Amino acid sequence: MNAARAQAGLFEPVFAVTQHPRCSNCHTDTAAPLQRDGRPHQPAVQRGDAGRGVARLTCASCHKDRNTVSAPGAPDWHMPKAGQAVFRNRPAGDLCRDLRDPQRNGGLQPEALGRHFAEDPLIGWAWAPGVGRSQPAMDRAALVAAVAAWLRAGAPCPD
Ligand code: HEC
Ligand code: HEC
Repeated sequence: MNAARAQAGLFEPVFAVTQHPRCSNCHTDTAAPLQRDGRPHQPAVQRGDAGRGVARLTCASCHKDRNTVSAPGAPDWHMPKAGQAVFRNRPAGDLCRDLRDPQRNGGLQPEALGRHFAEDPLIGWAWAPGVGRSQPAMDRAALVAAVAAWLRAGAPCPD
């Protein structure tokens, strides 16, 4: 493998986690979140302008700050706004370029992006999702290390 390919490969482990349903069920371009292995959310809910549902039916009315018997939960449970932070089915190169660009990642400079991976409670939920839900193959510490290595190299992206 040449050096450029090796550099571009630094994003691969990060990409693999983003495609897991524990991430892509929220990070989706569909009109509503998905659940389990990527099937439509039951009951039918709407994303709403801020990714928090609509007045009649907010995400928080069912999703609490921890998993409950009725629904999974983590602090401030919501999904990205329409068109933002779409991971599901996004080609690796495009997602990589989205994530490293503060104009497209919600304003996160590299250091803040690394911290988000390490500290965000919604990301943390992916490794404590409750009974019957699979977890990403790589654990969170390994993901954080992979993100740090990618950022340290200047956030190189595959084509
Ligand atoms: C419950 C929904 C939910 C889950 C699950 C979730 N996220 Fe997010 N994520 C969000 C929201 C919403 C934002 C936008 C920032 C905000 O409003 O907090 C976000 C932002 C991000 C960002 C910041 C960059 C950007 O483009 O906004 C990254 C990186 C990220 N998530 C990665 C992940 C990864 C990796 C997983 C799985 C391990 C995951 N998320 C799981 C809802 C979720
Ligand atoms: C009326 C209650 C209710 C509302 C409102 C609601 N949810 Fe859910 N949600 C649930 C339940 C129950 C589940 C678990 C279903 C299951 O896995 O069998 C769930 C599952 C999910 C999952 C899947 C977790 C996983 O990976 O398995 C996501 C993501 C999600 N909801 C996001 C949202 C978002 C974002 C909103 C607001 C736009 C929202 N939900 C509004 C009840 C609700």
